[in-house]
Amino acid sequence: MARILTDPFGRRIEYVRVSVTDRCNLRCSYCLPRDFTDFEEPESWLTFDEIERVVSAFVRLGVGRVRLTGGEPLVRRDLPVLAGRLACLPGIEDLSLSTNAVLLGHQVNALYAAGVRRVNVSLDTLRPERFAQITGADHFDRTLDGLLAAKRTGFAPIKINMVALKGVNDDEFEDMAAFCLEHGFTLRLIETMPMGEPGRSAARHYLDLQEVRQRLEKRFTLVEDLVPGGGPARYVRVAGTDLRIGFITPISRHFCATCNRVRLAVDGTLYLCLGQDDSYALRPLLRAGADDAAIENAIIEALARKPERHEFREKPRQTIRFMSATGG
Ligand code: 5AD
Ligand code: SF4
Repeated sequence: MARILTDPFGRRIEYVRVSVTDRCNLRCSYCLPRDFTDFEEPESWLTFDEIERVVSAFVRLGVGRVRLTGGEPLVRRDLPVLAGRLACLPGIEDLSLSTNAVLLGHQVNALYAAGVRRVNVSLDTLRPERFAQITGADHFDRTLDGLLAAKRTGFAPIKINMVALKGVNDDEFEDMAAFCLEHGFTLRLIETMPMGEPGRSAARHYLDLQEVRQRLEKRFTLVEDLVPGGGPARYVRVAGTDLRIGFITPISRHFCATCNRVRLAVDGTLYLCLGQDDSYALRPLLRAGADDAAIENAIIEALARKPERHEFREKPRQTIRFMSATGG
């Protein structure tokens, strides 16, 4: 019988996000400084063996849902090999991937064969010049190719994560909705969070998604839609269509009370909250030859440190690490 992991606030933890690299082939303005190169060195990256050990400990503790993320996870060499190994762990219920899709086109078949079925793709704009402005790289075409390749390969659901940025892409919500409707993607709008200096300077583009929803209601009839799965998005469906739109509102309406997740960074640090620095270093343990029981105990001990909620509003200067350390 699988165990049940809970935190001090009685929340059941059933989901771990695994960052396989903090590196990225883009530099989204709200995430990484354009000239940033100060990434983790390879010596401190968990190896695939180490990642598998940590994930299997989580799975034995009843955490059956795993998402591979970054940075950009596809810049980690042989990611499909890791995916295949994790997909085989007894007790894994769901293995998904978050990517910017720049490199997805080359890897869709291998990822599908490995057992990944669900992908979330970050895409803030459908305009190539704007894409280059936001991400610092001229990769719109590759991104779109990767996304469409994922669709052709049969990944489902495919969710588009669009960070809503006032004065940057706030004239594109309707277009993005139409694009998602055309392709059968789910659209998720995200409020910008003050993660690291780039996140804080993006605060000037912050847009309250309650306003965006009201605006979308002028164009579409939106009906509340309960999507099981326990993520933070609140969904609506566009009446008369299959299009779902999710609103991820960490700032205007935080969802910490139902938080079900923790995050493993590539250096083996387990972060207990996206917006807080509470953490537990698993790498020293792994490299000191800890046995499986010791790793499980460390995870349980770490969970006791999970904070009740982020304080993005009250203490926006608090989170020093970049979003790319844990991939959202
Ligand atoms: N605020 C909100 N979302 C962010 N992301 C990266 N940085 C931020 C931020 N400061 C998003 C990316 C991606 C997801 C992993 O996190 O766009 O969709
Ligand atoms: Fe890379 Fe994602 Fe950060 Fe953009 S948001 S720079 S794609 S890690």
